[in-house]
Amino acid sequence: MYESFYGLTQNPFNVTPNPEFIFLGKNHREALAQLLYGVREKKGFIVITGEVGTGKTTLIHFLLEKLEGNNHTRTALLFNPKLTVHDFIQYILKDLGVRVQGQTKGEHLHHLHRYLLNAYRKGERVVLIVDEAQGLNPDLLEEIRLLSNLETSKSKLIQIVLVGQPELDKTLSQPEFRQLRQRINLRYHLTPLSEKETREYIEKRLRVAGSHEPIFTDQAIQEIYRRSGGIPRLINILCDNALLNGYALDQKQVGEKSIREVSVDLKLSREPRRVWEWVFLGLAIMFGFSVFFYLNQMGYLSPLYHEVLRGFEWIKGILTDEWKHFSNLFN
Ligand SMILES: Nc1ncnc2c1ncn2[C@@H]1O[C@H](COP(=O)(O)OP(=O)(O)OP(=O)(O)O)[C@@H](O)[C@H]1O
Ligand SMILES: [Mg+2]
Repeated sequence: MYESFYGLTQNPFNVTPNPEFIFLGKNHREALAQLLYGVREKKGFIVITGEVGTGKTTLIHFLLEKLEGNNHTRTALLFNPKLTVHDFIQYILKDLGVRVQGQTKGEHLHHLHRYLLNAYRKGERVVLIVDEAQGLNPDLLEEIRLLSNLETSKSKLIQIVLVGQPELDKTLSQPEFRQLRQRINLRYHLTPLSEKETREYIEKRLRVAGSHEPIFTDQAIQEIYRRSGGIPRLINILCDNALLNGYALDQKQVGEKSIREVSVDLKLSREPRRVWEWVFLGLAIMFGFSVFFYLNQMGYLSPLYHEVLRGFEWIKGILTDEWKHFSNLFN
């Protein structure tokens, strides 16, 4: 809508996981390196967690692009894990391009096993990625664990990547999943972008969308970081709304004020204080009180009290005189 107004060729802040706009911060790079290493070295189970909107699905799409460019890797992506166990097996077979034959779960499992063995003989790797894995029910998790048991004497037949919000960690830490837990060889937790990365992220997206001028001021970017906490989805929503606002007001530069207004409309409050900030504040207050009591104890504050009281008396005197003068005018 506003693209031509800012000289852009496409929307820079669409909330779809488009690999063209990918920005790999330090954390994303490390996660990707772990994933590629895990798949290449056939590490079995890999778990990636991260808060809502930190870029897990985007990272998976980027990984798939990288893996699909490699002739020796076959991939299946399950993006909605709300399936029955049997549907799950059928889904994987279809996604791997295997013609589903037979009716029963046993037949389908047999096909899958044959496919995996064949791939192994051809020197191919098979990777199953489960997105939104925090929504997996216990039966499906158990089935996934059993799949990871498929191996030859030398190697795993399938690599499994579970990707999900932090609740996934909670689920996996329950006693019933201790067998699965032991099979996890690599884990990574995605965190939000830093302030510097937030700036680079915004610049990258604008550049890809065709911008040649800085649209957001430095203060605007600082405010975007404060309001979004460095979470890419929130950064996108804020920037998109701020650009729309600028377009409506015919302003080509987006400043801090605009970000604040948009944040209020979107109900995005400032990032809450971090624990260390509270600790620092508490220590500063305690230090202030200690200094006060020490000076009082040493008698340094008495003359100061005296001076302050004298000041009050002086102000009171002036005000009383003024009041008398004012009352006399009306008598
Ligand atoms: N590394 C990145 N580079 C570019 N854009 C990103 C990146 N990470 C996230 N985004 C943007 O943020 C949006 C949200 O990211 P994504 O859907 O990947 O988050 P998520 O962690 O999977 O969220 P959820 O927990 O809700 O599934 C994406 O649509 C994309 O536009
Ligand atoms: Mg996601």
